[in-house]
Amino acid sequence: MGELFKKKDGQQPQILIIDDEDAIRESFALYLEDNGYRVITGRDGQEGIDQFLEHSPDLVMVDLRMPRVDGFEVLRTVRATSSETPVIVISGTGAASDVVDALQAGATGFLNKPVWSLSHLITKINDALERQRLIEENREYQQGLETTITRLQTMQKQLVESEKMASLGKLVAGVAHEINTPVGIGVTAASHLSENISAFKKCYEAGDASHDDLERFLNTMDETARMILGNLSRAAQLIRSFKQVAVDQSSESPREFKLREYMEDILLSLKPRMKRTGHRIELACPEDLKIRSYPGALSQIITNLVMNALIHGFENKNNGTIDIRISKETPNIILVCTDNGKGMPEEVADNVFEPFFTTKRGTGGSGLGMHMVFNLVTQTLGGEIRCESEPDKGTRFVISFPHEEGPVQ
Ligand SMILES: Nc1ncnc2c1ncn2[C@@H]1O[C@H](COP(=O)(O)OP(=O)(O)OP(=O)(O)O)[C@@H](O)[C@H]1O
Ligand SMILES: [Mg+2]
Repeated sequence: MGELFKKKDGQQPQILIIDDEDAIRESFALYLEDNGYRVITGRDGQEGIDQFLEHSPDLVMVDLRMPRVDGFEVLRTVRATSSETPVIVISGTGAASDVVDALQAGATGFLNKPVWSLSHLITKINDALERQRLIEENREYQQGLETTITRLQTMQKQLVESEKMASLGKLVAGVAHEINTPVGIGVTAASHLSENISAFKKCYEAGDASHDDLERFLNTMDETARMILGNLSRAAQLIRSFKQVAVDQSSESPREFKLREYMEDILLSLKPRMKRTGHRIELACPEDLKIRSYPGALSQIITNLVMNALIHGFENKNNGTIDIRISKETPNIILVCTDNGKGMPEEVADNVFEPFFTTKRGTGGSGLGMHMVFNLVTQTLGGEIRCESEPDKGTRFVISFPHEEGPVQ
């Protein structure tokens, strides 16, 4: 005899038995009740359907051949309301076609009358209930999985956002810090100037100003004004570079252009910077490669890379080479920019994309160049950039970004 199947909530399963033969219905019901199941019955198809709709039992056993509403009709109604409740069909005919039809209509199991072994009945019922439980567990598991995936995706988005916010916060803090110095010096100098002016004015109005006093005053004015001008220009320059970084780069709309032609134009515009140096630039790019991307961003990227190679890489060199290689690895364009300059120690290479990171502080570097390149590559072009560099081994930037290739006209 089979063990009583317990539902997840600990309750005994409720079985609906529908059969128009009183003897069968009642003997099944008695037997199942004796074995701990809760049983409801239907004396014909219609009563069975009513019972099913009223009680939503855990399993239905239904006779196929009944007058008026037959077992197939019951099966169809059960499937129409609840696609999953197991239905075991009892048939007296034993016809193979009945089995096939019932299974096609959605029956879970099949039992031939007369049922000689009632324990076999319990096994059938338990199997069907077990199967049902597995289906439910699987569904819950899948739902859990879906919720987890959705939660992970949300978390990932939040992480990206907070990363952006963090880097923006850093940028703003950096700007405040960088601009504080020249503006602070400017303010001090201006107040010094103002004190000097009022002191001289007092002296002059009292008729005490000598020629020497005037000369000293003019010298101080000149010196201080120069200091103010120098510091305010530095602040203005910082703000200009900052604005360039902060400007929403995506305001440029993408367009189709011939990559090689465009690269040649960019390099032409950089020619004045190469003049009177022994450095040269080499470009390898497939002819007639037409891409859909952001040419303005590309131009800023190349300009920064070339200028950095000239200013930093070739600092102590006069015949450096910058090699720019472009290839297509659909769906990406790979752009590799290599210089054979002085390279970078690890701590520089690791921080090269950080805002305000520069080894030329005080001599014109703002440390925003590569940060801007990073933003342009990752945000505007939707690509990736990495830096490979070692002292005395030159520097290489590898950029990859998606292209949408168009036909060449
Ligand atoms: N090709 C290169 N070779 C050697 N060092 C480099 C190279 N490119 C960048 N660097 C190092 O990385 C630092 C950061 O570069 P980045 O372009 O961000 O700032 P910067 O050139 O110093 O200032 P800015 O570009 O804002 O005027 C540089 O100060 C330099 O030390
Ligand atoms: Mg730079």
